[in-house]
Amino acid sequence: MPAREKPVEDLTQKEAAAELARLSDEIAAHDRAYYEKDAPVVSDAQYDALRRRNDAIEARFPALVRADTPSKKVGAAPAAGFGKVLHAVPMLSLDNAFGDEEVGAFVERIRRFLNLPDTELPEFTAEPKIDGLSASLRYEKGAFVQGATRGDGREGEDVTANLRTIADIPVKLKGTRWPDSIEIRGEVYMEKSAFVAMNEREAAAGRQTYVNPRNFAAGALRQLDAKITATRPLRFFVWGWGATSAPLAKTQSDAMHRLAEGGLKLNPLYRICKSTEELLAAYRAIGEKRPKLDYEIDGVVYKVDSLALQERLGFVSRSPRWAIAHKFPAEQAETILEDIDIQVGRTGALTPVARLKPVFVGGVTVTNATLHNADEIERKDIRIGDTVIIQRAGDVIPQIVAIVKEKRPKGAKKYHFPDKCPVCGSNAVRETDPDTGEAEIVTRCTGGLTCPAQVKERLRHFASRRALDIEGMGDKQIAALYEDGIVREPGDIFRLPERVRSAEVRLAERDRMGELSVSNLIRAIEARRKPALARLINALGIRHVGETIAGQLARHFVTWDAFAQTSIAAKKDEAAFAELSSIEKIGPTKAQAIVDFFAEKHNRDSLDHLIYDPKKNPTGVEPQEAEKPSQSSPVSGKTIVFTGTLEKMTRDEAKARAVSLGAQVSGSVSKKTHLVVAGPGAGSKLKEAQALGVEVIDEDAWIKLIGG
Ligand code: IVH
Repeated sequence: MPAREKPVEDLTQKEAAAELARLSDEIAAHDRAYYEKDAPVVSDAQYDALRRRNDAIEARFPALVRADTPSKKVGAAPAAGFGKVLHAVPMLSLDNAFGDEEVGAFVERIRRFLNLPDTELPEFTAEPKIDGLSASLRYEKGAFVQGATRGDGREGEDVTANLRTIADIPVKLKGTRWPDSIEIRGEVYMEKSAFVAMNEREAAAGRQTYVNPRNFAAGALRQLDAKITATRPLRFFVWGWGATSAPLAKTQSDAMHRLAEGGLKLNPLYRICKSTEELLAAYRAIGEKRPKLDYEIDGVVYKVDSLALQERLGFVSRSPRWAIAHKFPAEQAETILEDIDIQVGRTGALTPVARLKPVFVGGVTVTNATLHNADEIERKDIRIGDTVIIQRAGDVIPQIVAIVKEKRPKGAKKYHFPDKCPVCGSNAVRETDPDTGEAEIVTRCTGGLTCPAQVKERLRHFASRRALDIEGMGDKQIAALYEDGIVREPGDIFRLPERVRSAEVRLAERDRMGELSVSNLIRAIEARRKPALARLINALGIRHVGETIAGQLARHFVTWDAFAQTSIAAKKDEAAFAELSSIEKIGPTKAQAIVDFFAEKHNRDSLDHLIYDPKKNPTGVEPQEAEKPSQSSPVSGKTIVFTGTLEKMTRDEAKARAVSLGAQVSGSVSKKTHLVVAGPGAGSKLKEAQALGVEVIDEDAWIKLIGG
């Protein structure tokens, strides 16, 4: 029997060592798949089993525990947690300023708060905002006794042992006359160069890599084994303090210089500013140095220098009124465009994606950027092999802002946008807009439901919350069911319950689908077997037909048959086409999209497999008749405004009733308003109605009008 199948009790020492090595590698690979690629390849249960086996072997053979044991790695639930540390003074956050005006406003706010004349302004400090992790270090009589992470600001984790491994954090403060007790605060970070080197080393060793220095530093700081932290080159800049048993100085800057004398690292770009202009000049100077610094910064922090004034200014909610972070705009970087990939969405839209030589920008390693569409590539004349400038701001998708033509390799060819879908091989075309006659921006695959990319996206839309709303049928389930050939078209979803009951399909044995979730899924599918017509129409994913248009169609046609028959007939029958295109909010473009959808044989076949038919498809869905707006209701065709409080029904209920009776509800009174229903507290709308001579009734009259 191979060692991997043996119970832990039966393993020999040699086998146990081999097993621990294998488990360490396997778990690390799964961690990478899960944490970095977000694409786990085993079920949670299988993963847990690997970890449990690792733990059991370690428990039996403690001498064999490996240095790279998965039981101590971050990214996995730690075997034991860190102790908690209550911050004596909470660690709060900073308000942000995104531009010179907001800095001006910050200064003005302070002047006003302190009631200073225009000519007077307190002094400020300016320093880089380090993109790291804050830590609070408690020193007692000059000795480092305890260090904690920020945590939720009130309470952090005790990472004393790890912080002790950081050379920038003195074990004893230099000099004497230190307060008996002080919480010194600053930022733990990793240098960019060290990050790149460490990440390469970790990758070569088959261990977890990180997207940016901040995450790497965070991982290192939260190591349960301080020996591992010690191998990671972490650094520390001091930026302030929390509780202190005796004042350090009269100003922020004097206090910081004292801490620097004590052995802490004060950022070398730290300076004092005497006016808004000097603050902005400091910001520009630091911004210019930013790309050359070996650490990530994301702004400049300004603080009122006088501690007495800080005291007076105090805090607004969770940030000090005396400080602000002036943030930098998106960062740009140069890299190489290695390839252009084409992705295909639900409607068949082909989206080009730039594959980039990994580059560290705006705080993360970027490997992809959107290229939007064919025109964009053409306009910027982007070619594979080009050096490109990319920009990343906040969480937005990285963009290519420009190409560096001078660096274009010889022979780089113009990019030809594909005319075939890369997923299914069907023609990819740019439709012409029927209204303008111009080519549309988007290139689309014509494969429809024969294109796997489109099918998966369409299935996802079909089951989504605003469509058929099948709980438990998310992206992952659809992708898995599609790839296993179990669900290839919407109708397959409704055949699932029967196939599971007859044991033809065994979902429970699939990864990540336990008995419970299978029965929940089956129940969720059954619950949607009789969908509202509007939901079903929306779920089909017909181009230009979303929730609203689907609602219009449902109300107009009332039954599925009437809708489908008219839509099919409209291909040839002018009267049918006219009926479609004359429905409110549906013009010729949308009518044509509906006709095109029904004209495709594979769409009609797919509908036959979806919709209930006693003989051909007994497990199909039975769309419910929509409520037809009653033509004869006393309010049909009228525009109604509700104002003031209603007492017998909510405003939403009243509106829904009005709409279902064929009225239109508007939010404002105009000459076109037919009726205003006014409850107590009605104000300007009531006055306008009276001024315009619009009929006004109260709630009781309204209820009587609509027949109770
Ligand atoms: S002063 C009351 N100065 O930014 C909070 N913070 O967004 C005073 N940070 O939690 C904070 N560099 O972790 C200050 N030079 C600096 C900083 C800095 C980085 C971090 C810190 C803080 C966060 C607020």
